[in-house]
Amino acid sequence: MKIFAYGIRDDEKPALQGWETAHPEIEVAYTQELLTTESAKEAAGSDGVVVYQQLPYTREILQALADEGIHQLSLRNVGIDNIDLKAAKELGFKISNVAAYSPNAIAEHAAIQLARVLRRSKELDAKVAKHDLRWAPTIGREVRMQTVGIIGTGRIGRVLIQILQGFGAKIVAYDIFKNPDIDKQGLYVDSLDELYAQSDVISVHVPSVKENIHMLNKESIAKMKDGAILVNVARGDLMDTDDVIAALDSGKLSGLVMDVYENEVGIFNEDWEGKKFPDARLADLIARPNVLVTPHTAFYTTKAVLEMVHQSFDAAVAFVNGTETRNTVKY
Ligand SMILES: NC(=O)c1ccc[n+]([C@@H]2O[C@H](COP(=O)([O-])OP(=O)(O)OC[C@H]3O[C@@H](n4cnc5c(N)ncnc54)[C@H](O)[C@@H]3O)[C@@H](O)[C@H]2O)c1
Repeated sequence: MKIFAYGIRDDEKPALQGWETAHPEIEVAYTQELLTTESAKEAAGSDGVVVYQQLPYTREILQALADEGIHQLSLRNVGIDNIDLKAAKELGFKISNVAAYSPNAIAEHAAIQLARVLRRSKELDAKVAKHDLRWAPTIGREVRMQTVGIIGTGRIGRVLIQILQGFGAKIVAYDIFKNPDIDKQGLYVDSLDELYAQSDVISVHVPSVKENIHMLNKESIAKMKDGAILVNVARGDLMDTDDVIAALDSGKLSGLVMDVYENEVGIFNEDWEGKKFPDARLADLIARPNVLVTPHTAFYTTKAVLEMVHQSFDAAVAFVNGTETRNTVKY
């Protein structure tokens, strides 16, 4: 059996080598190139392909794979929105993704960044870098003194609750589907309005489905406590960025953690040093002392990358063997 992988980054190679060592019976080949109609030819003779890219998987690309006798696609990431699913169905493609590679990676990042905002780390680090070692006025706040509102108690939201409880924070939570463990702990409030009213910090962990787009906007922010802190390591379009900036300007929001941005595609994961920065609004956010921007790196840990590589290769093999995989995408 042969599996061919596209878009392999240097940081994925240790995980890939680990998987190869554990599966000596399977031939593995890979390229750093992304999957295109041209590069599809490189997979000739393979039984399955493993992929990860933001570029679309078009009908033409899927057809090019099918022409090589390949009818399966194993994603190393979650999102399937860039796949032409109609074409995939017509061409008989089996698709897998990796839905849960490491919820801890994202939850830890949210907790760390929140603690940094509370301790005013960005201001303090800048002072220390200039050898200004005075304490005032950079006094911090403690996590345990905060009521943190968690919107979405799925995989990531639940890990974040555990982490913040370790700090001693008070948690209130809201989800349209209650999780029995969180319910047993009595953490749920009945409405988002109640969560907004009670929380010093609001952290959002829901998918960017139609109903959730711009759920954090001027109306919802108006319902929050004065000086609330927002944490968004979920999806950029959950926030109306202009409304959030207006609330930071007025002091309604006292801090923001953002790992995601509405217009991040083509901007994040690029080096802009020495070049004209493409987005003035993002530049403004990055410059603010009470805003912590990271370029969608909450997931980016060695453990998460290992899971993405290993689970996608496992799924590719399962497809060839005709065995079940929990990562099959039903579409
Ligand atoms: N920054 C990163 O690197 C990164 C990595 C992975 C995932 N994410 C994002 O994190 C978010 C959460 O992921 P997850 O794996 O925990 O998802 P999940 O599916 O396990 O949980 C999502 C939860 O949100 C709830 N929900 C949906 N709409 C809601 C609403 N309007 N109000 C309240 N609850 C609602 C669902 O019932 C579910 O319990 C997603 O947006 C995902 O895209 C970000």
